[in-house]
Amino acid sequence: MSKGVIKKVAGPLVIAKGMRDANMFDVVRVSDKHLIGEIIEMHGDLASVQVYEETSGLGPGEPVVSTGVPMSVELGPGLISSIYDGIQRPLEKIREKTNSNLLQRGVEVESLDREKKWHFVPTVAEGAEVEGGDIIGTVQETEVVLHKIMVPNGLKGTITGLKEGDYTVTEDIASINGEKGETKIQLMQKWPVRTGRPYARKLSPDMPLITGQRVIDTFFPIAKGGTAAVPGPFGSGKTVVQHQLAKWADADIVVYIGCGERGNEMTDVLNEFPELKDPRTGKSLMERTVLIANTSDMPVAAREASIYTGITIAEYFRDMGYSVALMADSTSRWAEALREMSGRLEEMPGEEGYPAYLGSRLAQFYERAGRVISLGKEGREGALSVIGAVSPAGGDISEPVTQATLRIVKVFWSLDSSLAYKRHFPAINWLSSYSLYLDNMEKWFNDNTAEDWTQLRTEMMGLLQEESELNEIVQLVGMDALSAPDRLKLEAARSIREDYLHQNAFNDVDTYTSMPKQHLMMQLILDYYREAKAALSEGAKVDDLVALPCREAIGRFKYVEEAGINAEYDRIIAELKKECAEAVARKEDF
Ligand SMILES: Nc1ncnc2c1ncn2[C@@H]1O[C@H](COP(=O)(O)OP(=O)(O)OP(=O)(O)O)[C@@H](O)[C@H]1O
Ligand SMILES: [Mg+2]
Repeated sequence: MSKGVIKKVAGPLVIAKGMRDANMFDVVRVSDKHLIGEIIEMHGDLASVQVYEETSGLGPGEPVVSTGVPMSVELGPGLISSIYDGIQRPLEKIREKTNSNLLQRGVEVESLDREKKWHFVPTVAEGAEVEGGDIIGTVQETEVVLHKIMVPNGLKGTITGLKEGDYTVTEDIASINGEKGETKIQLMQKWPVRTGRPYARKLSPDMPLITGQRVIDTFFPIAKGGTAAVPGPFGSGKTVVQHQLAKWADADIVVYIGCGERGNEMTDVLNEFPELKDPRTGKSLMERTVLIANTSDMPVAAREASIYTGITIAEYFRDMGYSVALMADSTSRWAEALREMSGRLEEMPGEEGYPAYLGSRLAQFYERAGRVISLGKEGREGALSVIGAVSPAGGDISEPVTQATLRIVKVFWSLDSSLAYKRHFPAINWLSSYSLYLDNMEKWFNDNTAEDWTQLRTEMMGLLQEESELNEIVQLVGMDALSAPDRLKLEAARSIREDYLHQNAFNDVDTYTSMPKQHLMMQLILDYYREAKAALSEGAKVDDLVALPCREAIGRFKYVEEAGINAEYDRIIAELKKECAEAVARKEDF
């Protein structure tokens, strides 16, 4: 243990001297108030300490003690439904302990409840040979989450003294006899947050994380274990997208990191998130969620740590074999914390004052996403998908955080203020967004949805692109200058935008669309276009075809409950054919 004294205090940064024996990333306790900090730089016997609590009142000469261990999280039953701050202190516990709504300093609280007993059921027998990553038993953590107790990494040997029954997270539940002698195992283990948890191997991103959001699944899908960024200006729908994914993406576990900036933004998350209903169970979404909240009364440095705390917890559930989705809203706030600390460290500033290592830090974070086979004799497949919101000032995506993020992530959902202004939600711009996973996942889509999935998708995107070109012509010379086939094309594109891309998160049916329904919806819109085109070539009038009565039913199709989609589809198609034939017949009238 290394003990030094404060040399200088600069906001959340404390420089301590006499720290020669301490290590980078060690957790330290600062002053007699025991403020929690982390060493982020070492120069000889000087340590730069990022302090996660308010440092006012501290001065030179006060003690700084290294604990000799790196910043770590506690992993075990009790994580789910928890609401933590950036360094994994349960908010409720801090509030109880300080008896007030204002955070007090130096409060020591356990991340996992030490009193609560969990019912542990072994899944191996005494004498079993196990190694790091193997599952030795389970705890039913919430109604929906079965917590798997894994042998901590690095251990290998024979299981002895296995117990079934009710235990706290620190009581022994088994021993492992191996090269290192006998090691007692508890329900809880620890892991340093800045080190990614190891796995046996990474799998290729060839399977989508289905979200039920049409513009995402159809046009810009994210892979299971993939990375996506949602940059968007103020009020463009970043949070709604993140919430929709938390609710609907086919993930077993959700880790949500809120980095609010405005005073009440985080309070909103704290109030709103527990209210979100889990569509799978009808219960609170918190039953499979871990929430990390950086409230505005916490110093910025805690924000810097929060994304590592969150992703380490997410990796732990990935290792159990779960599909985990991690959302960070927004990473811009995290980057601002990084910038502030870098400024305090008097580092050479890069673009807009962000440190030169902004990009590499972001990369280190997103690289921890992936679909992997876990460690252990019977490796499990688990996935950690990461979706980060970015809030560029003024919506200008040329700023450093957005640019650095886009160089790393493989999916870009570009939120557009003009779409949001027109109340086209989700305001994901279909011309500027992209998914680099599409080629990899094409096979999955065609095998698992319908053979013509890619073909329909390509056809629809083609129409949208042609629409934007035609719109330029219309602006120059007016609608009348367009040929009848082009007018029909514009109608089809409009139908794609309004009847398909537009999806109301707050409508009970529209909020989620299954893959079969997405496929049927695509077919329906393209069927209309095909039939109308054929009718046009047989002499029907374009005005007639644009105004076919069945178009209203096509527009309402998204509100049809899943059980009724096939019957409704057949009905509309019959109607469409009849109306097209009538339109062709009417040409005789002229
Ligand atoms: N899919 C959607 N369906 C319906 N309404 C939506 C949808 N997405 C966004 N909205 C509307 O837009 C509003 C703003 O969305 P949201 O709060 O997600 O924006 P934001 O980008 O997170 O804003 P901020 O920059 O303030 O964090 C919502 O309150 C809602 O009314
Ligand atoms: Mg928001």
